[in-house]
Amino acid sequence: MGVLFQVLIFAILSSFLYIIWRILFSCWISPAGVYLKLKKNGFGGPTPNFPLGNHKEIKNISRAAAAAAAASSSSSSSSYITTFSSSETSKISNDIHSSVFPYFSQWQKSHGKTRDLLLLNLLSLRKVFIYWLGTEPFLYIADPEFLRKMSSGVMGKSWGKPQVFKQDREPMFGNGLVMVEGDEWVRHRHVITPAFSPANLKAMSSLMVESTTKMLDKWAALINSGSQEIDVEREITATAGEIIAKTSFGISYENGRKVFEKLRAMQITLFKSNRYVGVPFSKLMCPGKTLEAKKLGKEIDAILLTIVRARKSSNDRCVQKDLLGLLLQENGVDGRLGKMLTTRELVDECKTFFFGGHETTALALSWTLLLLARHPEWQNHLREEIRGVTGDKEIDFTKLAGLKKMGWVMNEVLRLYSPAPNVQRQAREDIQVDDLIIPNGTNMWIDVVAMHHDPKLWGDDVNEFKPERFKDDLYGGCKHKMGFLPFGFGGRMCIGRNLTMMEYKIVLTLVLTRFSFSISPSYSHSPAIVLSLRPSNGLPLIVTPL
Ligand code: HEM
Ligand SMILES: *[C@@H]1O[C@H](CO)[C@@H](O)[C@H](O)[C@H]1NC(C)=O
Ligand SMILES: *[C@@H]1O[C@H](CO)[C@@H](O)[C@H](O)[C@H]1NC(C)=O
Ligand SMILES: *[C@@H]1O[C@H](CO)[C@@H](O)[C@H](O)[C@H]1NC(C)=O
Repeated sequence: MGVLFQVLIFAILSSFLYIIWRILFSCWISPAGVYLKLKKNGFGGPTPNFPLGNHKEIKNISRAAAAAAAASSSSSSSSYITTFSSSETSKISNDIHSSVFPYFSQWQKSHGKTRDLLLLNLLSLRKVFIYWLGTEPFLYIADPEFLRKMSSGVMGKSWGKPQVFKQDREPMFGNGLVMVEGDEWVRHRHVITPAFSPANLKAMSSLMVESTTKMLDKWAALINSGSQEIDVEREITATAGEIIAKTSFGISYENGRKVFEKLRAMQITLFKSNRYVGVPFSKLMCPGKTLEAKKLGKEIDAILLTIVRARKSSNDRCVQKDLLGLLLQENGVDGRLGKMLTTRELVDECKTFFFGGHETTALALSWTLLLLARHPEWQNHLREEIRGVTGDKEIDFTKLAGLKKMGWVMNEVLRLYSPAPNVQRQAREDIQVDDLIIPNGTNMWIDVVAMHHDPKLWGDDVNEFKPERFKDDLYGGCKHKMGFLPFGFGGRMCIGRNLTMMEYKIVLTLVLTRFSFSISPSYSHSPAIVLSLRPSNGLPLIVTPL
């Protein structure tokens, strides 16, 4: 009895010690090791403390920036009383990096330039440094040449996605294409790519026309009944949600509303519970939100599972030309094991398309309407081009490529207001950049907004809306080919970009042929990050039928 008791105590004690050791190791010893390694390599950055990393400074700098912005906007609003003067409109500045990412903007100035790095003649742009989210090191990169050197030797399948975000966004993306790694990523990407072929996209164009027309009819009715102001961001986000629901899982908006609303609620919940990324046990600090997101995630999975199962067992599964139908067809035609996606995987891909696809596209369109409202001459250029291409007939998929100027406008909007403000990766092996080693496990945070607004790359007119810079140049005159990254880079580049391009052109063509628009006096310009880059006070425009 006594011996048994002693053995039991020993077992409990040792497993307790083991757990403590594991926690210490993963929260402290291992990050500290990485810290030393990075430091030895000469990477600078704000000094982290345990266990918050640089969260405190991020908060502090953000608060100061928000206070400064509020002070400047209240002083300006007191200076005009009733009229919305044109000088007010001109205050809408496209120079957004220091307000969207105030901490990165500040750190760029104060860190990053260390003696060692200057000796190595690298990182002379001061735009690479280390910061910490909790106990996770992040390599901040806003230098395209560094990015080129770093990524040139890493294949798509060798890239990781930050483990901290993976856990956090599990209910959103699951193990879908955005998150999978290694050979699994190769398999998923291989099965999914054909679904986005031009022939398949073509079949989706009529869905897009249908949903957009419905939205525009509603606008016309609203205007008829006396209201002129329309929050175009809300409208377009709803329509893009409807389009993605139809193109991904083939459900109507009415039927899909349940999924749609839950997905949206989950996104908001996740963002709110997201504030201490990388801090050990931070989830315990907001258990309510974490649980809520989990619960919503389960409900969404259940609905999507029902849809996928029903489609799998029905005979006309290949008839519906939406993404799910195409994936099921892929599975059927090439039924070799290992190429198939399981039901569970299909559910995750549907979620991924929804989250990856609807808000980004909606935001690209919304920011476009804002910039076109500010630049009515470009509304006219585009209308002229549309008339020339479609000749007053219905738009048709084959003619979209002829909308060249619209393509420049799209690129210019993606440059100034990139809906995906950053690209995230994680090293799965030691990566050598010249004489530096980026250790296995280091997270990468590529600041797309910073590169898109860097005068060294684009010239002094970097913050001006000038679609013509893309006229004869895919890179918009950027001095470096990796300075323009709205869709990411390399093998893991966005799979939906052709779908987005098509949707963008269809929606914008339909809007421009029926309405003109200008900025509403109630609009206040405040782009902010809520997972993506959005107008934080909505986007009211004055809309007038043509
Ligand atoms: C304006 C619209 C869009 C923007 C700005 C955008 C941006 C991005 C970015 C920055 C990435 C990460 C790339 C990287 O890590 O290098 C990405 C990946 C991805 N996007 Fe998009 N996207 C858009 C539209 C869409 C649409 C419409 C879909 C699908 C219906 C989609 C599905 C995906 C998927 C599945 C991935 C993961 C690809 C992989 O890792 O292999 N995106 N997107
Ligand atoms: C926060 O910012 C203020 C002034 O901007 C500074 O005095 C203070 O030391 C900062 N605190 C932290 C924790 O960084
Ligand atoms: C990188 O680190 C992970 C986790 O620590 C480990 O499993 C993996 O084998 C490492 N990769 C290489 C190439 O050493
Ligand atoms: C998009 O279309 C172009 C040309 O039509 C094609 O070369 C490219 O591979 C497509 N991209 C994707 C991600 O499907």
